[in-house]
Amino acid sequence: MLRKLIIGSATAATLALSSGAALAAGGAGYVENYAFAHEGPFGRFDQTQLQRGLQVYTQVCAACHGLRYVPLRTLSDEGGPGLSEEEVRAYIEQNYIEVYDADLQDWRAATPNDHFPQSSMENAPDLSLMTKARAGFSGPYGLALNPLFKGMGGSEYVASLLTHYTGSEKEEFGAILYGNETYGGGYLAMAPPLWDGAVEYGDGTEATVEQMALDVASFLTWTAEPKLMARKQMGFTAVLMLSLLAVLLYLSNKRLWAPVKARAKGYPAE
Ligand code: HEC
Repeated sequence: MLRKLIIGSATAATLALSSGAALAAGGAGYVENYAFAHEGPFGRFDQTQLQRGLQVYTQVCAACHGLRYVPLRTLSDEGGPGLSEEEVRAYIEQNYIEVYDADLQDWRAATPNDHFPQSSMENAPDLSLMTKARAGFSGPYGLALNPLFKGMGGSEYVASLLTHYTGSEKEEFGAILYGNETYGGGYLAMAPPLWDGAVEYGDGTEATVEQMALDVASFLTWTAEPKLMARKQMGFTAVLMLSLLAVLLYLSNKRLWAPVKARAKGYPAE
């Protein structure tokens, strides 16, 4: 019986280890552990960074990608880029954002209640939930210790992807693929979308490739988790209340058992 148990658990451990290694091999490549403002238990989005990220998304990424799960009006929600309602309307107008109206069977100008357009390029994935769909950190050996300390790393994955092109190219089935240290297979179909000065920031921030990558990754973290700040605040309040409750429970427990303890020691109660 004991022998069977030992053999069984040894097999299970080997399987777990090897599947962890297999996962690691198929997962992301090199991912830099950038420090984002929204990380950690008290992390908050940097509003000006979200606005810069929106600009990068609009002027660069939106040429191919879409954000079809994100309503335009949420740009003025609390905890997001924080545009005013007028600014949202101006944003739609200035960027000629149009949506296809099934009733009219034609394109029309978007309103704040419409969503961002979907991807215009067939093989460019929608980016609404991308930072949730990719994990930058895993392992070691399937133990999930890295995500415990560094987070899942979706934001880091996107920022790294944009900054770790190798410069090599290859042709496969008539399509050009671009070398990238972060992308799992090492080559992907997206040409390096950023170059120094690709956008001009209104707040005077220098638009280096890394700066734009961090800004847009931060913006895409917001699109995937617009209630991140509210969630963290709620979590903090909950922990505070539970700690208070624990102290109260401890004290009433002591109080309740005091007479019993006193009796056990041979003294008369109270
Ligand atoms: C010229 C079109 C084009 C532009 C501009 C572009 N992309 Fe892409 N992107 C693609 C295509 C095509 C793919 C699919 C690549 C593949 O699967 O090999 C892709 C894939 C991606 C992926 C998914 C990678 C993965 O792990 O599957 C992310 C994230 C991404 N793009 C982010 C961005 C961001 C952020 C920008 C703006 C800074 C941007 N892209 C600009 C075409 C584009």
